[in-house]
Amino acid sequence: MTKSEMTGDVYYPSQEIIDNAHVKDWEKLRQEASGNYEKFWEDRANELHWFEKWDRVLDDSNKPFYKWFINAKTNISYNCLDVHVKTHRRNKLAFIWEGENGDFEAMSYYRLHKEVCKFSNILKSMGVNKGDRITIYMGRIPEIVVAMLACARVGAIHSVVYGGFSVEALHERIEDSQSKVLIVADGAWQRGKIVPLKEIADEALQRAGGIEHVIVVKRTGQEVNMEFGRDMWYHELRSLPIASNDCAMEVMDAEDPLFILYTSGTTGKPKAILHTHGGYQVGTYTSLKYVFDIHEEDRYWCAADPGWITGHSYIVYGPLLNGATSFLYEGAPNFPYPNRWWSMIEKYGLNILYTAPTAIRGLMRFGDAWVKRHDLSSLRILGSVGEPINPEAWKWYHTVVGKEKCPIMDTWWQTETGMFMITPMPSSPLKPGSGTKPFPGLEMDIVDEDGKPVKPNEEGFLVIKNPWPSMMRTIYGDDQRYVDQYWTKYPGMYMTGDSARRDEDGYYWIIGRVDDVIKVSGYRLGTAEIESALVSHVAVAEAAAIGLPHELKGNAIHTYVILKDGFNASDELMETLRQHVGHEVGPIAKPEKISFMEKLPKTRSGKIMRRVLKAQALGQDPGNLSTLED
Ligand code: WT7
Repeated sequence: MTKSEMTGDVYYPSQEIIDNAHVKDWEKLRQEASGNYEKFWEDRANELHWFEKWDRVLDDSNKPFYKWFINAKTNISYNCLDVHVKTHRRNKLAFIWEGENGDFEAMSYYRLHKEVCKFSNILKSMGVNKGDRITIYMGRIPEIVVAMLACARVGAIHSVVYGGFSVEALHERIEDSQSKVLIVADGAWQRGKIVPLKEIADEALQRAGGIEHVIVVKRTGQEVNMEFGRDMWYHELRSLPIASNDCAMEVMDAEDPLFILYTSGTTGKPKAILHTHGGYQVGTYTSLKYVFDIHEEDRYWCAADPGWITGHSYIVYGPLLNGATSFLYEGAPNFPYPNRWWSMIEKYGLNILYTAPTAIRGLMRFGDAWVKRHDLSSLRILGSVGEPINPEAWKWYHTVVGKEKCPIMDTWWQTETGMFMITPMPSSPLKPGSGTKPFPGLEMDIVDEDGKPVKPNEEGFLVIKNPWPSMMRTIYGDDQRYVDQYWTKYPGMYMTGDSARRDEDGYYWIIGRVDDVIKVSGYRLGTAEIESALVSHVAVAEAAAIGLPHELKGNAIHTYVILKDGFNASDELMETLRQHVGHEVGPIAKPEKISFMEKLPKTRSGKIMRRVLKAQALGQDPGNLSTLED
C-alpha cells in the first residue's frame, strides 16, 4: 500500500491486492446492493445449500420482528461440514490448533464432521431435543467448536459463556437460559496457569437448578469433582457405541434459533441475543468472504475467543461456511514470551490475522524487535474489531506487522448484528481509525436526539435503517425488551448505542458507547453487572461503576463504593472487593480503582448519575445538573 501525498492519511491497496480480491470494486458492489438489498442477499443465499428454498426473501409485516428466507429449510451445520465432506475439501484442514503448552492438533473437515456426529449422538442419548438450551463453558480448544456444531446439528440452542467469566455470570446465564445440559472443560491454560473451569461451574451449579447432565472435556488433567449421575467425561462417552460416526441432521426452518449469546446492556441483567440458522449463515458467510477475502489456500486466524460473537461468527461459522482453514490458539499472546503470536504466524504460514486494538497495543508495548525476529511475509490481510483503533496502533500494525502491504479491515459490528456492518474490503481506500462505510445492502445514518440526520463531521447517534439477514431476532424470552432497547427511541431505526461521525467522504468514525456499557479491552461489560457484584459483598451498601480512558485497555473500570455501617475503608478491603468482583463476574471485570464515598450523585428519583462521576474524574464540566438531588 502506498500513502498518497495528495490526500493525507489515506492508504490505497496495491493492484495485487485488488486483482486477487473477490470484490475488486467495493463501491460498485455497494451501489448495486443499495435499494436492492433483498436481491443482494438472495443471490448470496443461493451460494449455500438449502434442503428447501424460501417462498420469500423477507417478511417485514411485523416490524421489528423481521423474518428472512421464509419457509426455507436448512441446518447451518450441514453447510459448515456435510457440504465440504462431499467435495475436494474432504481432507482439507478445518482447524489447526495450538495449546498454550505446545500441544497441537490438526483437524480435517472429514474428521470434524465425524467428531460433530459423535457429539450429536451423545446429546441425543441424553434426551436433548430441538429447541433445548445447552450452556457451553470452555477455553479455546477444538472441542468447543465440535460442541457448538453438535448443538446446531441436533437443533439445540447453544449458549456459550466466555471462559473468562466467573461464578455469578455463569450461574445467571445458565438460569436465564434454562439450560438442561452443561458442556464444560476441566480447565484451560492461561499464562501458564490453569483456569479451573469445572470448579467454577460446580459453584455456579450450586446456585442454579435445571442442569441434568454435565459433559466434562479433559484438557488440563487436574483432579476435578465429578458428581455421580450428573457429570460424565466426554472421552468416556465418546468411546461408547451410542457415539457413532453418523448422525442424522435435524431439518431446521430458516428462522429456527441457532444460538443465544449474552451481552451487556444499559440496565439490569445481560440480554440473551438470539440468532437463527438461515439468515445468520448468509450474513456471516458473505461478510467473511468479501472482507477477509477468503481463498481456498488461505490460512486464516481470528484471534478472538469462541465465547464472544466474534468467535461465533468468525472463528466457527463464517470460516466453516467458506470451507476455510482456521487457526485456533488457546492461550495468552505473550506467553511464554511476547513473540508467541508472531512465531505461530511464521510457523503455520498464516495469511490473515484478525484481532482487537487492545491486543495490538499490548504487543506494541514490547517493541518492534519481537515482531522483526519472525518472517511474517505470509500475511496478506489484517483486521481489527471491538473498539476504535487509535491511529498510532493502526500505523504500528500496518508498518511493523503488515510491512505496509496488508490492508487493515477495521470492522464495526455488534453481538446484535451478527456480522460486519461498517467495514472496508481489501479494495477500499483506508483512513486509520475509520471503519470506512457500511457493508453492501445496509443503510446507516448518524442522527441527533430527534432522529434527524446530522451534518458531516458532527457527532450523533449511529442507527441502521434497513434489515439484514444476520440481525438478532429478539432477546430470548423478552420480546418487549428487544423492542424497547433497540427500536423505540428512533421509530423504524435500529439504535446501536454508539455515537459516531461521518466525514465529507462518507467515512464513519466511531466515537464510543453512549449508554452504560463499558468496553474494557474490547470486552463489553455493563455498569449494572459490576455494581451488583460489588453490592453482593457484605461490606457494600451502594456502588457505581464508570469507564475511564486507559492506554492499553481502551477503558478501565473505576468504581465508587459506599460502605455499610461498621465497615471501614482500607487498602485491604479494596483488594478484597476487587477479588470479589473477579470471582463473581470474571477477571476482566475487576475494577482498576475503588474509591470509598460518603455519598453518590443521584437524581431526585434515585438514579446514580454516572456522567457526573465521570466528568469529575476527568476534570470536565459535568453539564446539566438540574436533576441532581442536591
Ligand atoms: C460494540 C459491540 C462485534 C465484535 C466485538 C464486539 C464496539 C466493535 C468496533 C470497531 C469501534 C467498535 C462498539 C459496538 N466496537 N467494533 N471496529 N470500531 N468500535 O461486539 O461485544 O457486541 O460490542 O463494540 O461500541 O457497539 P460487542
